[in-house]
Amino acid sequence: MNRFLRFSLSVCLVLLSAHLASAQEPSSATQQTAAPGQRRGPRPAPTNLKVLPKDMTGDDVVKLMRQYQGDLGVECEYCHARNPETKRNDPPSDANPVKEKARLMIKMTDDLNAKYLTQLADHKSSNAITCGTCHHGMSHPEPFVPKPRENRPAQPSPQPATPTPGN
Ligand code: HEC
Ligand code: HEC
Repeated sequence: MNRFLRFSLSVCLVLLSAHLASAQEPSSATQQTAAPGQRRGPRPAPTNLKVLPKDMTGDDVVKLMRQYQGDLGVECEYCHARNPETKRNDPPSDANPVKEKARLMIKMTDDLNAKYLTQLADHKSSNAITCGTCHHGMSHPEPFVPKPRENRPAQPSPQPATPTPGN
């Protein structure tokens, strides 16, 4: 079994290097995208979790990360530093200061759900606060401006075009 896996892995590596060699000429940008169908097996376990549960698997963490990506409308490298040598993202590294801000946000969101929302008598856990509750697909949530109320007489404009009778 193990020997078979090792065999298939080396076949993959041979195929991959052949693919990269043949893809050399057009542009180096193609090297970033893995060959279709290529799987690398389970992700390595995280090594630098400070706020997320330490027993999360690599796959669990990345699933959550994809959610952050969508909730904030950003790419992984918005929070993660790049390794200058390999030119690839280095998720365990803390070199990108945004990662620490995101840690604070994770703690804040956990507290909102665990300490405060649970105090609502009729709270449903399906109505949990997520990053998207505030961020709405933006890295910096926009200030909310309520719509002007409609069932009210029009607000006096600062310089009315036509004089209105006093009210
Ligand atoms: C909004 C910021 C943010 C985005 C976007 C984000 N991450 Fe993360 N990521 C974090 C934070 C914060 C941690 C550390 C959590 C902790 O300390 O418990 C982390 C941890 C990780 C880890 C665990 C590293 C380790 O070994 O400790 C991996 C892997 C990871 N992220 C991958 C990704 C990938 C892949 C993407 C894009 C799909 C991504 N992240 C997008 C903030 C982000
Ligand atoms: C209760 C509302 C709320 C929730 C929930 C929330 N955020 Fe935020 N977040 C904010 C506000 C407000 C800011 C400050 C934006 C600013 O200063 O311009 C912010 C800032 C950030 C920043 C810093 C952006 C930067 O570049 O400086 C990151 C990263 C971030 N949030 C990630 C997250 C993540 C990840 C989650 C979910 C775990 C989350 N936030 C949940 C309201 C929220």
